[in-house]
Amino acid sequence: MSDHDQVHKTQMNYSKDRPKAANPVKIEDLTLRDGHQSLFATRGRTEDMIPVAEKMDEVGFWAMETWGGATFDTMHRFLNEDPWERLRTLKRYIKKTPFSMLLRAQNLVGYRNYADDVARAFVERAAANGMDIFRTFDALNDYRNFETVVPVIKSCGKHFQGCICYTMTEPRLGGEVYNLDYYVNKAKDLEAMGADSICLKDMAGLISPYDAYDIIKALKTTVKVPINLHSHFTSGMSSMSHLKAIEAGVDIIDTCMSPYAYRTSHPAIEPLVMTLLGTDRDTGFDIRALAAINEILEKEICPKYRHLLDDTKLSIIDINVLLHQTPGGMLSNLVNQLREMDALDKIDQVYAELPRVRKDLGQIPLVTPTSQIVGIQTVNNVLFDDENERYKMITGQVKDLCYGLYGKTAVPINPEVQKKALKGYPRGEEPITCRPAQVLEPELKKAQEDVKGLAADLDDELIYALYPVTGKRYLQWKYGKEPVPDDVKPITLEQVKAKKELIQKALAGKLVEKIEKEAPEKGDNLRKFNVFVDNDYFEVGVEEIGGAPVVSYIQPAAAPKPAAAPGRPAAPAAPKAAPKPAAAAPAKPAAAAPAAVDGTPITAPMPGMIVRFEKNVGDTVRKGDTVVVLEAMKMENALAAPVDGVIKAINFKSSDSVPKGAVLCVIG
Ligand code: CO
Repeated sequence: MSDHDQVHKTQMNYSKDRPKAANPVKIEDLTLRDGHQSLFATRGRTEDMIPVAEKMDEVGFWAMETWGGATFDTMHRFLNEDPWERLRTLKRYIKKTPFSMLLRAQNLVGYRNYADDVARAFVERAAANGMDIFRTFDALNDYRNFETVVPVIKSCGKHFQGCICYTMTEPRLGGEVYNLDYYVNKAKDLEAMGADSICLKDMAGLISPYDAYDIIKALKTTVKVPINLHSHFTSGMSSMSHLKAIEAGVDIIDTCMSPYAYRTSHPAIEPLVMTLLGTDRDTGFDIRALAAINEILEKEICPKYRHLLDDTKLSIIDINVLLHQTPGGMLSNLVNQLREMDALDKIDQVYAELPRVRKDLGQIPLVTPTSQIVGIQTVNNVLFDDENERYKMITGQVKDLCYGLYGKTAVPINPEVQKKALKGYPRGEEPITCRPAQVLEPELKKAQEDVKGLAADLDDELIYALYPVTGKRYLQWKYGKEPVPDDVKPITLEQVKAKKELIQKALAGKLVEKIEKEAPEKGDNLRKFNVFVDNDYFEVGVEEIGGAPVVSYIQPAAAPKPAAAPGRPAAPAAPKAAPKPAAAAPAKPAAAAPAAVDGTPITAPMPGMIVRFEKNVGDTVRKGDTVVVLEAMKMENALAAPVDGVIKAINFKSSDSVPKGAVLCVIG
């Protein structure tokens, strides 16, 4: 298939000061974005990047990916960090190497298409804060979604790297939709749009080595601009695909520093440097300098993140990806979601339903956000459909997709599903065919009005415009309007060490708690709970001091897990693997829930976060009216009134996290 004379051994000089190859393989380092996004749920903090920043700047990377993707979301939501500030801070340490970001085209760094005014402002601010290369992709490969951001990237004098999302419907390259012609035509489109380089973005690690060879070879003969391969390691193929891509003449390869490499991340840089040493594609990198960086990462940084690594399996690759041609992160999200709903036994049904849903929805590529859209809808179908009705609970995002709000799908959407999804859709029941953002009203002015007095500048306003609920909460933390919760604060190496010692002590049986008080007598309000910790079982009696108030509905107090890590490998056979967070939250509902409200409750069908209530206490509702919108796994679910009546009680507010089964409101 391949002619192996594409890479030549040219020199016998393997020293650090060896002459650089005339056409070295260029490397984009992903450690500071995709690396920790893939392995550590994007939880990397800026303070943990600074110790290696200057050293990494010396390596000679073509670019360093430092921003974009999930970083913007995670930083303001979970880390109490200003995403813009990270760019400015890193720029002070990394002065030579260009910065690259992952831009979800009109989705920017969120999960929906934003209006043009927000998109323009965002790109301008990213450029002004230090971004150099805009790696731009659209989940549907619909390049009309590039039309707004690309001219702004260009007018800021920055590099536009256009992506082709790699996806497939067959076990290997080919089939009716995603065949070689598809990729060649997409590359031509990108070049015509003025792409400065083109990235084949294999987010799921699906590309096999010989297919990588064929595509790269075809792209190199079709377009003139440099070709970049981005291929996740998830399935275990990407190190081989890298090599075949290099043989086919690829210009740029994406890698990570070794502690942030492999698993659902990317191959490491060090073996590639050694592989190419002394060839006419030699990177010229100093392997000792890389080792010195690794030393810092291993000793000073990674211990803080180790607990986020999914080590429930011995294998570091995900065979499921090879079996299902589906992103590993998406599969593990499905597993996590099923686990939270105590429905892990339905995983095989989910695997069977997934290709059906994807086909119904136009055979779209599976990448953020379409992987979540297809994934969550699949789980909804498996959990809520019955033999009489399919697509019983359609998420807001699937409705948007059916309307055309994400763009054009690879093949037409199943008309029946589309009709059902668009019944009563607020923008209209007839889908659009134009560029999606054309139907979006400008959003920036309103956002600026909303946070007047809170936001200090356009950067703040954009945080809110992109993430209204969590963005506003972050701005309140930032300006001291609300206390910063402990769980978003950084941890130190000392804390990690102390915790480790405590665990070791406990494992050795040396941790003995003394009972210092005599137990009081059990009262009438004692309630018993079964508590399971791994294989141990405890019966625990709980009684509120002073007696418990009478409540009609008891809401479980389990703290919902944060949004599932996109990069956690699936572990379907290990239901006990991830211990659920202990009942960390105090029994707040007992205090918050109004006493003895009679009526029909609307309960949360899944754990999630309240986006908004569309009704107030006292409002009259008709059966089927949307009462509350619940965000679960980043998808919005409209929960409808099951009966006619009047809203008697609303038990939560916007941005509250709720467990499955929580009574959100009561209709009487
Ligand atoms: Co990636």
